[in-house]
Amino acid sequence: MVLPLTAKIASNGHLEIGGCDVVELTERFGTPLFIYDEATIRARCRDYVQAFTATGAETEIIYAGKAFMALAVCRIINEEGLGLDVMSGGEIYTALRAGFPPSRLMFHGNNKAADELELALGTGVGRIVVDSFDELELLNKMAGELGKKPRIMLRLTPGIMPSTHAYVQTGQQDSKFGFGIQDGSATEATKQALALPNLELIGFHAHIGSQIFALHSYDKAIEILMAFIKSTRDATGFEVAELDAGGGLGIKYKAHDEPSTIEAFAETVVGSVRDGVAKHGLKMPKILVEPGRSIIGNAAVTAYRVGTIKEIKGIRTYVSVDGGMSDNLRPMLYNAVYDALLANKADDPASAKVTVAGKHCESGDILIEEAIIPSPEVGDILVTPATGAYGYVMANNYNRVPRPAVVLVKDGEARVIARRETYEDLVRLEEG
Ligand code: LLP
Repeated sequence: MVLPLTAKIASNGHLEIGGCDVVELTERFGTPLFIYDEATIRARCRDYVQAFTATGAETEIIYAGKAFMALAVCRIINEEGLGLDVMSGGEIYTALRAGFPPSRLMFHGNNKAADELELALGTGVGRIVVDSFDELELLNKMAGELGKKPRIMLRLTPGIMPSTHAYVQTGQQDSKFGFGIQDGSATEATKQALALPNLELIGFHAHIGSQIFALHSYDKAIEILMAFIKSTRDATGFEVAELDAGGGLGIKYKAHDEPSTIEAFAETVVGSVRDGVAKHGLKMPKILVEPGRSIIGNAAVTAYRVGTIKEIKGIRTYVSVDGGMSDNLRPMLYNAVYDALLANKADDPASAKVTVAGKHCESGDILIEEAIIPSPEVGDILVTPATGAYGYVMANNYNRVPRPAVVLVKDGEARVIARRETYEDLVRLEEG
């Protein structure tokens, strides 16, 4: 699935999502427009809960808010009963504003500021994932002063490199994140955490990377973690109550992509933990996972309007749309590839090979190097599927382009969950 679950082609040849005609949505709300399908978000949450519940292990699914966070999304995640992974004061604030129970928040980050930790301690965030020796010390001191005893996990780097883009690999030893297992930091951190009076160590966390297709990377990481847990238990007597295997399951961006299924991910993660438990004679921990992209990525599309078409004979045709690197940085940052379709000609044969360019003042502002779409015309509505994760949240105002609006569609109704920025918004922080 690349398009949201409810996507179909209506009898007038228009793309429809959540019972809404995408062309009509762009007329009502303008372009570029992020269109999120509520049914897909909920279905993916349920797929995760079901797949992990089916393993028979004690598990908890924690949505990684960094993939896409908005008040409305926090409410959906809460209604679906998932936890929420937050990684900044801003994400904690958003979750709390949405009425998300602080006890189901999990706070991450390699450089949490004192005021962010204070917010977490003050509001009773359920778990804090400690990333460094400095943070252990600071958090213990702050917790003592505030009379709190937060539940913490330690973020570990198992020292493996899953095959994905280098910018989204996080499990290798040379990483800014976490305590290395190989160099002994993880053992030292565990000993320190156990000795600190104001912290309650409940377990370990590892997130090895993102957009991962091959599940054997998880097997490997968990095998290393389980061996670490055994040696730590032998050295300190510490029994791990919770083990968090992170997020990272890949999704389809293009029709031919073949990511693993959520079921296979669940079986791999739980199976590997069970193997480690049996091999080392450990107590079975509660297993947590933190999917972001695989819940929200395929739930949205971005709709743009085609403004200009430039054909360079014998070379290529540039189809320029009214957004670009300000609403989707992924092609430029990670060489990410996307498909495209025309919402107003959704069942026309795709016969033209074009390059989809953004409107920004940079040659590199190319959304799709090679898209096969029906013969394009100025005014067409060009849609890029699978923009639900790490799209809007990484949007910016380069060239003073206002950020797009975001709508949530369901059963024929569309609701703006983030309004389009105005020119006035662009200068609201400025003085003089
Ligand atoms: N847990 C932790 C600690 C993470 O750092 C991340 C993602 C996740 C969970 C969720 O990973 P997911 O299931 O979404 O792959 N901007 C990049 C992705 C950065 C991922 C950052 N951490 C992109 O657009 O590909």
